[in-house]
Amino acid sequence: MAPPQLFDVIVLGAGAAGMMCAAVAGQRGRRVLLLDHNDEPGRKILISGGGRCNFTNVHTAPDRFISANPHFAKSALSRYTPQDFIDLIAGYGIAWHEKTLGQLFCDESARAIVAMLVNECEMGSVTPGFGQPIRDVSHADGRFRVTTGAGVAEAPALVVATGGPSIPKLGATGFAYDLAKYFGLKLVEPRPALVPLTLGPDDALFRDLAGVSAPVRAKAGKGVFDEAALFTHRGLSGPAILQVSSYWRHGEQVAIDFFPQAQSGWLTEAKREHPRATMRSLLARQMPDRLAEALAEKLALAGELANQKDAALAEAERRLSDWRFRPTGTEAFAKAEVTVGGISTAELSSQTMEAKKLPGLYPIGEAVDVTGWLGGYNFQWAWASAQAAGRAL
Ligand code: FDA
Repeated sequence: MAPPQLFDVIVLGAGAAGMMCAAVAGQRGRRVLLLDHNDEPGRKILISGGGRCNFTNVHTAPDRFISANPHFAKSALSRYTPQDFIDLIAGYGIAWHEKTLGQLFCDESARAIVAMLVNECEMGSVTPGFGQPIRDVSHADGRFRVTTGAGVAEAPALVVATGGPSIPKLGATGFAYDLAKYFGLKLVEPRPALVPLTLGPDDALFRDLAGVSAPVRAKAGKGVFDEAALFTHRGLSGPAILQVSSYWRHGEQVAIDFFPQAQSGWLTEAKREHPRATMRSLLARQMPDRLAEALAEKLALAGELANQKDAALAEAERRLSDWRFRPTGTEAFAKAEVTVGGISTAELSSQTMEAKKLPGLYPIGEAVDVTGWLGGYNFQWAWASAQAAGRAL
């Protein structure tokens, strides 16, 4: 058998975090091997942001990340900021624009981001090893040994950047968790996040609204988001729902305020201004007709507003501002953009991402229990955690 190839660093996973980390370490003179079982690197980047990659968010701040330790991400995020990534892509002439809520997208294609990262790796003389499954990983005498279909490689440092299990058809796996368990690192239970929620028979009326969308305030757990909700054949989706899904736990309710901007007493006020209106016609002034019809049916206030008691209207107003859904579940990892949970941050240095128990092991990116909101935050965490490790290698 051929002797193992020797490197300073082996990076497992050529996604956002793995490529960035390999490039940084390589450009610092480290001999880096970058492995991925996919034939091409960065597949999630390519499909992200509808093909335009929402690569960061200008409002990046630690409170936009979910983790058992909300302080953990501060160090890496403060040392590699959205502006740092903007400066990097500026050097490649990649044009971008800001959409809503601080989200930055490529003007053209996410391919430009992958091409940039590949070029950064080439500048660091990173050795690519794509299209080969990782058969075995072990550690002895201060060295990590990785066996793939192409052979055996060894290095004193191993970066685990294989992400989370969301969207398996793109090559996503729970490999990082298996490795963490093998090396004795604790996990925070991984759950699908930024994922549509499913509704059961009690909410069948709403599933009939598939395709209808409306601006709402959605709440679940500690998550509160003012964005659009979308009704689907299976339940609820749209940015507001994806955001709260990261905070939602099985068995809990999701509260929807259909009129987050309305003043208290607006329905009784509407009765004075539009006494001939019905509940349905009044709601339809401010939301899609089919949604107005479904909500009016559930409120069961038939007839003109003039004939409704003020107390009944006050109760209807309360329900419209705090409509409760009890999702039966999520659309799972097959449809989840990310994973909440992962390798526990208690095991890692927040400065370098190195495992405290096993020097030389560096979990980064989505594999770690740090999950961003929707809107470019997850890539910013991938870049920042990769930089933190890459500069320490
Ligand atoms: P990532 O998943 O990018 O990379 C992991 C790599 O490891 C992959 O290349 C995979 O093939 C490889 N791998 C996995 N298991 C392996 C194994 N067993 N052996 C070898 N290799 C293995 N975020 C954002 O900020 N803005 C956005 O616009 C979007 N859009 C978006 C759309 C969709 C559809 C999804 C699914 C996700 C997003 N995201 C996003 C989330 C974002 O893609 C995600 O947070 C990052 O890609 C995480 O980067 P990592 O490098 O940690 O993992």
